[in-house]
Amino acid sequence: MFQCVWSDARREWMEESKPKSHRIEESDGPTHLLKEEHRATLLKLELIERSLSYLRKPAEETLPEGVAVNKALLRDLAVALEKEIGPHFRKEEEALFPVLAEYIGKEYGPIEVMVREHEKIRAAFFTWKKALPSFCRSIAPIDEGIRKAVLDPGLRIVHLIRLHINKENQVLFKLSESSLTDEEKKKVTARMHSITDALRGEEC
Ligand SMILES: [Fe+2]
Ligand SMILES: [Fe+2]
Repeated sequence: MFQCVWSDARREWMEESKPKSHRIEESDGPTHLLKEEHRATLLKLELIERSLSYLRKPAEETLPEGVAVNKALLRDLAVALEKEIGPHFRKEEEALFPVLAEYIGKEYGPIEVMVREHEKIRAAFFTWKKALPSFCRSIAPIDEGIRKAVLDPGLRIVHLIRLHINKENQVLFKLSESSLTDEEKKKVTARMHSITDALRGEEC
């Protein structure tokens, strides 16, 4: 049963993470692409939250098989999330924000808040991910120490990224859609594509 849940969840997020058959056109606007990436991230966050919530349960409410499956799922999701948020933050910081800053300024405003949140998320995620491999390998029972060191920080990261995405969708992207000219939107989208292409090139 747990194996089934795992393969279903895995299929779901792999499907969502697949490169879209159509390349986002410059005319779709940069926020279209970023919102699609937000959707894929939100799906992973939901699955991470499910696994963490299972692992946080008292031992008498879990099964060894369920613990093993949720640990494996958590490890794979963390890897997938890392691959996604790094490039996504770069697209915002290097393509969208510099152009939007021409309209709303960079300091003491929403752009500065978003950049600070990126730093906070990167740092929290880095610390959390470093602790995951030994936790996932360990066969020791999950105790209060593990809950505080690994599982609670994981849930805080999920919360942090969700709030961040919500602010961008509700505030920053709306400002971008109403402020940028069509020409600027095309320029930002093209810059985002070149970041993706450069990252793909680095992977090869
Ligand atoms: Fe962001
Ligand atoms: Fe974003």
